[in-house]
Amino acid sequence: MDPTHAGFVHTSWWFKHQPRKLRPKEKQFEPIELGWRMVRHPLPPQNLVYKLLGRHVETEICYKLPGLRIEEVHGDRHAVVGLTAITPITDEATEVHQIFWASSGWVAPLAPLLKPFMHTFLDQDRQVVVKQREGLVHKPRLMLINDADTQARWWMRVKDEWIAAQGEGRPFVNPLEPKTLRWRS
Ligand SMILES: [Fe+2]
Repeated sequence: MDPTHAGFVHTSWWFKHQPRKLRPKEKQFEPIELGWRMVRHPLPPQNLVYKLLGRHVETEICYKLPGLRIEEVHGDRHAVVGLTAITPITDEATEVHQIFWASSGWVAPLAPLLKPFMHTFLDQDRQVVVKQREGLVHKPRLMLINDADTQARWWMRVKDEWIAAQGEGRPFVNPLEPKTLRWRS
């Protein structure tokens, strides 16, 4: 999923309202072992998580092989870590697991209440992927847009390098370089 999809795909009343104005985003990225990360940066103070995690809330997101996304959000009082793992099961099916850890004890009892929201959220992504697959049957000309699709390109480069390194019996060498990406979301 490209970083701009949220405003178009996750349009529930409780997440992001439509229609909404697209805002320019600018984020720094750098290579890490087996992938890359969106460098730690502060969240805007009007964000809801500020109230829950304390002040000076910062976030960092890692993407790495074989199919992991790890987001850490730290405030001066609490922290939340979210892990998403994507596992292909067959040519037709992929399992998505999502796990959250929070430093504050009162979050765990709320999990049953939060789960339906997360399922709705993930299902919105799933529905788009299903539609995308239906479209791909007709072999359309695909267009990747800089910088929004750069991470999709990185994913392919990192994966290709992993496969090449395995085939040649040598260590994986991360082909990525630090980069600033800009998009609207
Ligand atoms: Fe999504």
